[in-house]
Parts: sequence; C-alpha cells; structure tokens
Amino acid sequence: MSIKINGLKKWFGEPPTHVLKGIDLKIDDGEFVSIVGRSGSGKSTLLYIMSTLDDPSSGSVFYDDLEVSKMNEDAIHDLRNKELGFVFQFHYLLPELTVLENVLMPARKRHLHFEKEEYARHLLDQVGLLDKADSRATTISGGEQQRVAIARALVMKPKYLFADEPTGNLDSVNGDNIMELFKKINAEMGSTVIYVTHDLDYANMAKRKIELVDGVVSENVLR
Ligand SMILES: Nc1ncnc2c1ncn2[C@@H]1O[C@H](COP(=O)(O)OP(=O)(O)OP(=O)(O)O)[C@@H](O)[C@H]1O
Ligand SMILES: [Mg+2]
Repeated sequence: MSIKINGLKKWFGEPPTHVLKGIDLKIDDGEFVSIVGRSGSGKSTLLYIMSTLDDPSSGSVFYDDLEVSKMNEDAIHDLRNKELGFVFQFHYLLPELTVLENVLMPARKRHLHFEKEEYARHLLDQVGLLDKADSRATTISGGEQQRVAIARALVMKPKYLFADEPTGNLDSVNGDNIMELFKKINAEMGSTVIYVTHDLDYANMAKRKIELVDGVVSENVLR
C-alpha cells in the first residue's frame, strides 16, 4: 500500500507561474520521509496536494489504487477524517476553545471526544503541555500552539501524518521531542510520516529524504 504521485504539475494564475513541474513519487506505507528545499521551492504546495487538500493542475495522486481526483466527496471526507493527520505551517487553532478541546476537535467531528480524552491528555503530556490543557488557545505562545496542533494531528492515530515545518517555531529541546514523538508514532503504529523541514539534522533522521529544487525532485534518497 502506498501514496503514488504521477506527473504532478501545479501552476497558479494567468499567465501561469509554474511551481511544481512534473513530480513522480511513490511512498510506501510506514515510511518516514522528509522534504527539504529552499523557501518557495514548492514544499508546502506538494504536501497540500499529496494530502488531498489541494488539486494538481495536471497529473495524479493515488492512495493505494484510488485516484484522489476520481473519489467522490464522501470518500475524500472519510479518507481525510479517518486516515490523515495534518500539521500546517500555520496552525489554525480555534481561539474560543481550550488546548484540550482543540486537540479533541478531530475526534469531536466523529463523536469520539469522550473516548479520546485520555489519549488527548497523553499526547499533551508527550508534547510537554499537559499543564496547559485547560488554557484558552489564545493565551499560549506560538511554539505552544504548534505543539497543540501536533497533538491534534495525532489524536485519531492517523495512518498518514503530513507535517509542514512542525518544529519551525520550537527551541531545540521541544523540536527534538517532537521528532522523537514522530519516530515513535512511525515505529509503534506504523504510520507513514511525511514532514517538511528546514533543519538538516531533522531532515537526515528520515529514512527517505526528498529535495525539491525549482519545482522538481532533485534528490530522492533512501538510506
Ligand atoms: N495560491 C497561490 N497562488 C499563487 N502562487 C502561489 C500560491 N501558493 C503558492 N504559490 C507560490 O508557489 C511557490 C511555492 O510555494 P510553497 O508555499 O509551496 O513554497 P515552500 O517551499 O513551502 O516555501 P517555504 O519554505 O517558504 O514555506 C511560491 O513562489 C509561492 O508564491
Ligand atoms: Mg512552506
């Protein structure tokens, strides 16, 4: 089982700016993958398309044998809610809710928030924020918000985790801690983890490192 990307191109606007210029990738289930590249090289765009949140201009994305553009709304919705976890570059917490309520949002959508509360607290403990569980999301720091967003992405134990610069706002202790958590999720639950990072040490922790240069894959190394 895998995510496959065939001949993916993405352009924006008119006249078009070509951002992704023909990408082919196959990521098997259970892989631990980093994506690197200069600012503006298309990393976030690739991650969004790979994770069904944006459409390719041409080319295709497959989950197993299912092509995302051919799935109906319900099927995509199900895939997103049940199998995918997202950590965005900007984390979009709901300001009127507490930290714990934010972590439980994906569970609430499926009426599982009571059964998931203990796990949500466990995740908050793992990211070092158990003591902030009942704080309003607006009252915590940027790095704390980022860690809440990571706990939120993990609460449904996603089969695929997509993370866009998950350690971008964190000091090295918290950054290292998040990378350990990702490794653990990958090793213990077999989740596929795909993360974008500007940190070379973190990028090198991956079993596969993908580098984007100018909208194409310049390096795709499995170690
Ligand atoms: N919706 C959009 N409309 C127009 N241009 C866009 C849009 N989204 C992205 N781009 C352009 O595509 C290019 C790649 O953007 P992207 O966000 O994927 O880069 P990135 O590699 O994630 O960069 P960073 O490391 O700074 O986050 C940029 O030049 C950006 O301006
Ligand atoms: Mg980006």
